[in-house]
Amino acid sequence: MNFSSDNVTGVAPEIMAALVATNQDAATPYGEDRATQRLQDRFSELFENEVAVFPVVTGSAANSLALSVLTPPFGAIYCHEVSHINLDECGAPEFYTGGAKLVTLKGEAGKISSADLAKQLATAGTGVVHRVQPAAVSITQATEAGTVYSLDEVRAIAQVTHSHNLKLHVDGARFANALVTLGCTPAEATWKAGVDVLSFGATKNGAMAAEAVIFFEPELAASLGYRRKRSGHLLSKMRFLSAQLEAYLQDDLWLKNGAFANLMADRLATGLAAIPGVELRYPVQANEIFVYLPETVITELFASGFKFYRWEPGGDISLVRLVTAFNTQPDAIAAFVETVKSCLIIP
Ligand SMILES: Cc1ncc(COP(=O)(O)O)c(C=O)c1O
Repeated sequence: MNFSSDNVTGVAPEIMAALVATNQDAATPYGEDRATQRLQDRFSELFENEVAVFPVVTGSAANSLALSVLTPPFGAIYCHEVSHINLDECGAPEFYTGGAKLVTLKGEAGKISSADLAKQLATAGTGVVHRVQPAAVSITQATEAGTVYSLDEVRAIAQVTHSHNLKLHVDGARFANALVTLGCTPAEATWKAGVDVLSFGATKNGAMAAEAVIFFEPELAASLGYRRKRSGHLLSKMRFLSAQLEAYLQDDLWLKNGAFANLMADRLATGLAAIPGVELRYPVQANEIFVYLPETVITELFASGFKFYRWEPGGDISLVRLVTAFNTQPDAIAAFVETVKSCLIIP
């Protein structure tokens, strides 16, 4: 009954089994082990192109390390104002890049638009010594609002990005959820649409702690190994990280988990939207739901043992966030909807 986040969950059994299996033997440290070596081929096969892969432990490290190679210290990174890199990483992108500036854009439902980006870049002061120099664009897929950029939207953003000689980074903490919704291949969702670097998330979708920075132009990654070590993210027992990622990809576990989380979100959103007095804030396109609920209902839900975050306090009505995951219980969805109904529908 915990809808606070997709990282309140435990570990998917398949991934836990892979960790236990990895624990049987000794292995060469610092990523020279066989599981880590296999990842390069595995991800290249998945993305239908040669990629450079760097496992790390957190999404913040993945984002910040990825961005650190895309921008000089005097560069600018364009992102949405509610993006995780802007609001929730304690300045790590600025720290890892040696001081690059995050320039935020507004945009409905957690998305920036290619038109706004173009407008912003047109007056960015490229070549002006007094101004930070445009270097990268970062979008989140699925977004912090639980929406998904369409392939056309990604392509249009990539086109503007590249026309100004910038690089496009995607924060894919929920990449599996987005991909399931898009119904396309990993390649189509990324480099074929113009993405240069992806933070490929796994922790929110069944791993214990595993993310990967994926470069679609391996040459871009030349300095990443040093940056990862310098930042303390080169694990000596890297095999435990790589084993999680291997198991995550094995038999499409990542897509099955993402599809299940999305299905649960859809079921919850559909159930709630049918109740008078309940209003969804954004279209539900992945595994996060933002919904306006009367305060009396929120109080009753907490009293009934449900856990979730208030997002924006209102007066009588507040915005809350509900997040589903690979192991959300269908019964918990039904119980949540019933509790809201019992508060708002007079028999
Ligand atoms: C959009 C997004 N990006 C990245 C992250 C990664 O965060 P962490 O550094 O906690 O793994 C999160 C986690 O909340 C997220 O929601």
